[in-house]
Amino acid sequence: MPQLAGTEDFAAYLDQTVELDARLDGAAQVLRAIAAASIEMSELISLGRLYGQLGASRASTNTDGDVQKELDVLANDIFVSAFRQAPVAAIVSEELSEPLVLDPAGSLAVAMDPLDGSSNIDANVSIGTIFSILPVLANASSAEAHFLQPGRMQIGAGFVIYGPQTSLVFALGSNQTQIFTLDRRDGRFYQAVSAPIIARECAEYAINASNYRHWDAPVRAFIDDCVQGAEGPLKRNHNMRWTGSLVADAYRILLRGGIFLYPGDHRAGYQDGRLRLLYEANPVAFIVELAGGLATDCVRPILDIVPSGIHARVPLVFGSAATVELLTCYHGDPQFSADRAPLFGKRGLIRL
Ligand code: AHG
Ligand code: MN
Ligand code: MN
Repeated sequence: MPQLAGTEDFAAYLDQTVELDARLDGAAQVLRAIAAASIEMSELISLGRLYGQLGASRASTNTDGDVQKELDVLANDIFVSAFRQAPVAAIVSEELSEPLVLDPAGSLAVAMDPLDGSSNIDANVSIGTIFSILPVLANASSAEAHFLQPGRMQIGAGFVIYGPQTSLVFALGSNQTQIFTLDRRDGRFYQAVSAPIIARECAEYAINASNYRHWDAPVRAFIDDCVQGAEGPLKRNHNMRWTGSLVADAYRILLRGGIFLYPGDHRAGYQDGRLRLLYEANPVAFIVELAGGLATDCVRPILDIVPSGIHARVPLVFGSAATVELLTCYHGDPQFSADRAPLFGKRGLIRL
C-alpha cells in the first residue's frame, strides 16, 4: 500500500491549535470525541445491510415530524455518549425535542444533526454528521438559552462525511477550514487534502429542481439563467449536482466551488425551506466562510441570524462568494433581472 507522504496528523493539528490559542481547548476535546465516534459510525455504515436495517423507518418521528430511521437514532446515541467525554454542558439534536443537559459545569453547548442524508442510507450514497460548538452563556435561564445565539458565536463547527472516504471537515476559532481523512489502516485521521479555498465564481449549482413550481420569482429567475447557459444572461454553461445529503453537496463545493440552494418555497411548512439553522445551516456557514465562501438565507448572512427556536428552519444558500452575492442581487432588485431585454417579457410581465 502506498504511504501517505507529508500528511499532518489530526491529533498534532489540534495540539498545535490549542497551543496557539488555549481558549480552543474545550472545542478541541469535542473534536477528538467526534473523531472517535465517527470511526464507530463509519464502520457500521460501511457494513450496511450486513450490520442491520439501518435505513429502516421506525414508528417514531423527530421534532419536525420526519420519520426516524434506525440509523438516525443509533447515531444520536453514539454521539451523545461521545459528548459525555468532553466539557459539554448541553446538547441540541435533530432527534431530541428538548436540549439534553450533560455536564452542568461544561463550558460548551453542542448542536448536532447526528445523521444527515437519511434518505440516502439504503442507496449507499454519502451521509454525515453535522455539529456546531457554542460557548455556554453565563447566567442562562435555561439550557435552551445557550443555543439561541447567532452562528457568528460558534467557536468550532463542521461535519463528518461517511462516503468513499470518511472525512472530518471542521474549523476551530478563526482558523481556516480543514479536512482530515480517516486511514482505516491505523484508525487515525490525516490531512490528505490541503485546506480548501472555495473558488469565488462557479458554474455548478445544487438545488432540488422538482420544487421549481413552488419557488419565489427570484430563485426561479436565477435558475432559469443558469439553465440557459452560454445563450443566457450569465453567458456560461452551468452544470447541476444534487445529492440529497447536505454534507456531500457541501464537501463537493469546498473542493471545486459551486452554489447550493435550499430556499423557502410555497409548500405548506416550507416557507423557511427545509434545513435547520442550529445544526445544518450554522455549521455549514461557519466552515464555508472560513474557506472563503459565503452563506446566506438568500439575503442575510446565515451567521448573523438570531435563532427563534432550537429547531428553527432557515432558507440556505452557500458556496462561491460571487455567485452567492449574485443570487442576493436577484432578491434585492426586481430590475436586476427584468432589465434584460430578451427576458423582460417572461420575467417582468408574468413572474415578477
Ligand atoms: P436529514 O436527513 O438530516 O433530515 O437532512 C436531509 C436534508 C439535507 O441533507 C438535504 O440537503 C436535504 O434534506 C434534501 O432535501 P430534499 O429531499 O427535499 O431534496
Ligand atoms: Mn440533515
Ligand atoms: Mn438528520
